[in-house]
Amino acid sequence: MKKIFLINLKTYPQGTGEEAIKLANIAKGFSREDLEVILSVQPMDLERTSKIVKTFSQHIDPIEYGSNTGWILPEAVKKAGAVGTLINHSERRLSLEEVEKRIARAREAGLTTVCCASDPQNAEEIARLNPDYIAIEPPELIGGTVSVSEAKPEVISESVERVKGINPEIQVLCGAGVNSCQDIKKALELGAMGILVASAVVKSPEPEKAIGDLVKGFE
Ligand code: G3P
Repeated sequence: MKKIFLINLKTYPQGTGEEAIKLANIAKGFSREDLEVILSVQPMDLERTSKIVKTFSQHIDPIEYGSNTGWILPEAVKKAGAVGTLINHSERRLSLEEVEKRIARAREAGLTTVCCASDPQNAEEIARLNPDYIAIEPPELIGGTVSVSEAKPEVISESVERVKGINPEIQVLCGAGVNSCQDIKKALELGAMGILVASAVVKSPEPEKAIGDLVKGFE
């Protein structure tokens, strides 16, 4: 199974519109046999980035075709070329009930689901809803320079244990503050299958170098 390096462009100026396309062109060169590099982008950028590199939506809504002005239809995300979606990111938190609805709709639309969790207890609750991946991200470390592997390694190992106790098929990713290949190595040693990263890549003045340095953690 391939490891995952998921770069979330959030709504940073460096990850919006033409800048998202530039990052997609940079990121595509780093996928390899054992590693999938994926971008998570805003809905308006999906169609263009997905022609270049595997792309996820940052969010979907649990609606069907019809009268739902302003909501994100999972099928539209799929038609735009995305292969998956984040659900319940720390910056777009949902109730468990809302997470469950989105997992079901994503599955109907043929989208892979990466559901974010804030702590091991939340990871276990979400595991019961059967997403494809759970990404553990302690909210207080997001956007900082101290990584989850460094500050809270036990959050990764405990989440892996709890998730696998519910469903061994669900893979665990982790993120928040990841900024070096050592952070990634450590996370993989603790049982993670991949990484969610944003600022260390998107806000870097040299994103190509930043990705190149980080992916050494997967070697
Ligand atoms: O979605 C990934 C994100 O929340 C982590 O952000 O900036 O800490 O890598 P960052």
